[in-house]
Amino acid sequence: MTRQHIVFLTGAGISAESGLSTFRGKDGLWTKEEFQYLASTDCLYEHTQKCLDFYNMRRKQLAEVEPNEAHRLIAELEKEHEVTIITQNVDNLHERAGSSHVIHIHGELTKVCSMNNRTTCVKEYPLTTPIMVGDKAEDGAQLRPYIVMFGEYVDSMNVAVDYVSNADIFVVIGTSLQVYPAAGFINYAHHLVPKFVIDPGEMEKCEQLGFTHFKTTATEGMKMLIEAFKEL
Ligand code: APR
Repeated sequence: MTRQHIVFLTGAGISAESGLSTFRGKDGLWTKEEFQYLASTDCLYEHTQKCLDFYNMRRKQLAEVEPNEAHRLIAELEKEHEVTIITQNVDNLHERAGSSHVIHIHGELTKVCSMNNRTTCVKEYPLTTPIMVGDKAEDGAQLRPYIVMFGEYVDSMNVAVDYVSNADIFVVIGTSLQVYPAAGFINYAHHLVPKFVIDPGEMEKCEQLGFTHFKTTATEGMKMLIEAFKEL
């Protein structure tokens, strides 16, 4: 296969094999009602330290896990192809596996910003340093995680849609496609380009759009995808 622009849309499922829980699976984060509140701007403003501690727990957990084979197989594709990853994940496992073009549309656990305005005073912050009430951003406002919380707008929406619309190959891995706008990205891939979805669950929406569904885990599915690329 000649050099292609391969665009991936990834979700929590690709990090499941690294030990990070998904949101809506049987043991998912969001199945426990209070977690949805903890990840909301209501909690950030009404119970600031409680919200910060929820993210401090997730930041500390991220420091203790590693990228898995699926992350590494995607990174290796960069040797022969242009690869863009649009991820809903706030972990840095794609980057740590070696991927060089990752667009985080829900923010990043490795960064902090100003409570005054989430798009300002953005900087890297050690995962193992808890963010506490009283910690200040450069603008003097309270420091907060650089995360798109429930109640906030998603970043880089138009950029992401552009990449999907112009992809030579589009691959969806490990997302239940229940949260918009990311869930709508599958409609933007050109109907004639090869489209794949890797997920052990049912993915009817993708199948109706002509996606080839590898109904398995991210790592097994990536191996099947690489085999399928040989036929393209
Ligand atoms: N390999 C691949 N996919 C997997 C695996 C695995 N090992 N394990 C689970 N999955 C699949 C599930 O079948 C499901 O389709 O991963 C998907 C996880 O779905 P969600 O938990 O809903 O996560 P995601 O789609 O990323 O959530 C999107 O919702 O609350 C927001 O900000 C949050 O970014 C998140 C967004």
